[in-house]
Amino acid sequence: MSAVELFGTAFQNPVLLAAGTAGFGRELDHVIDLDRLGGIITKAVTPEPRQGHPALRVAEFRGGMLNAVGLANPGVERVAEHELPWLSQRLRRARIIVNVAGATVADYVHVIERLTPFEAIAAFEINASCPNTTAGGLEFGAEPGGLAELIRACRRAASRPLAVKLSPVLPDIAAMARVARDEGADAVSLVNTMPGLLDKRLGNGSGGLSGPALLPIGVLATRRVRERVGMPVIGVGGVRNAADAREYLAAGASLVAIGTAALADPRVPERIAHELIRG
Ligand SMILES: Cc1cc2nc3c(=O)[nH]c(=O)nc-3n(C[C@H](O)[C@H](O)[C@H](O)COP(=O)(O)O)c2cc1C
Repeated sequence: MSAVELFGTAFQNPVLLAAGTAGFGRELDHVIDLDRLGGIITKAVTPEPRQGHPALRVAEFRGGMLNAVGLANPGVERVAEHELPWLSQRLRRARIIVNVAGATVADYVHVIERLTPFEAIAAFEINASCPNTTAGGLEFGAEPGGLAELIRACRRAASRPLAVKLSPVLPDIAAMARVARDEGADAVSLVNTMPGLLDKRLGNGSGGLSGPALLPIGVLATRRVRERVGMPVIGVGGVRNAADAREYLAAGASLVAIGTAALADPRVPERIAHELIRG
């Protein structure tokens, strides 16, 4: 398994760092060789800087972890002035995908328009799991009308390919992937974290479940979307080793992103990429 073509871009291997677990790459720079990966998906970018949720933000449990980081990020201006220039200058072969979030459709459009001048961005990943404040807090991706409106506006604003990141708790994830495709999305990222609660373990109360428990859920979502919609999939959720990554690839994913396992050991993605290349 070696180079993969997606979004009209060549990825040297199918392994990505998942959104929110590698920041904008800086923290990992002297720990791993980012340029050996297929690419990095950045932390969510919103128009304004966000502090995120109060501590404690992470709690471990047997099946993985819960996080309530929120959308902590420095805001689109700082990302445009500091983070992306650094990252695009640092990477030669690994590709950059920017995760976009917001509370209104206009927030997403603003981030996309501000960052579009960066030639190094291979695609935008639209985080469709944020509460839509103009629709009363229901997530953008929770019902077809909200998702369609979001993707339509992002499609109009973006001259780059779009991947839409969906929640694993959607009753019919293939139907929502179809909505995204029909509005012009190029791929879907499956899956985001799953809502969960452990008593008094997180500052925010509830959080998002990630890690090993998500693996079969994400693999099933990938299989369903590939069979029923046929659009490209970035598989994400619960990957800890090359065998897990192959589960997503066998289900039809083009690329595989790694989050929680890389938080525990940042060398995991490079190791998996190496093993997949070796075959
Ligand atoms: C600490 C943390 C922060 C995250 N931040 C984002 C984010 O900003 N945007 C997003 O779309 N997903 C975010 N995610 C979800 C991951 O990208 C990924 O979909 C999820 O964790 C499942 O993959 P994993 O089991 O390999 O961690 C975050 C996950 C974690 C654990």
